[in-house]
Amino acid sequence: MALTPGDYHTAEVFDRECRERLSASWIPVCRSEELASAGTQRAVMVGTTPVLLTRDRIGAAHALSNVCRHRAITLVDGDIQADAIRCPYHLWTYRLDGGLAAAPFMEGADLAGCDLPRYAIAEWGGWVFVSLVGGLPSIGEQLAPLRGALDPGAMETLRIGFRMRWMWPAAKAIGWLCCISMWTDSRW
Ligand code: FES
Repeated sequence: MALTPGDYHTAEVFDRECRERLSASWIPVCRSEELASAGTQRAVMVGTTPVLLTRDRIGAAHALSNVCRHRAITLVDGDIQADAIRCPYHLWTYRLDGGLAAAPFMEGADLAGCDLPRYAIAEWGGWVFVSLVGGLPSIGEQLAPLRGALDPGAMETLRIGFRMRWMWPAAKAIGWLCCISMWTDSRW
């Protein structure tokens, strides 16, 4: 079945894909080695949702909203290493599991409910997956039919060899669907 040009670049289609696909699936966001050490904080986008990945001191990975609960500032750009998540605006501070730890000058205010929203996170085959919705089958169950072709134990041993960043002037106009098509369609 052929896709129409609009499938690649209209805002309506992208919104629907974000809602029905990217927000309703396990999405691979990085390799576990990129989130390996305690205090690692890594900003990623899942569809149009800014997500902050963290690794805490006991080795647990977390997927949190990357938006401060105070005035909606982006908490982390790129990758950093720190023992807490600190908002650059008024210095609200969150633990690596997303719990609010400190809110300067807000003494006496009711800050219940100001923890960072948490998303589902899982690691499989050396990959970190995030789901914006709860209640999905585990990533292991979802990928079970592919176990013959994708050996998670073998994939865990893989390490990043190089990175390729597309810097084409038209890259923004191409969209994720076209990128996926290019990598999966051998006839391009
Ligand atoms: S916006 Fe984050 S502390 Fe105010």
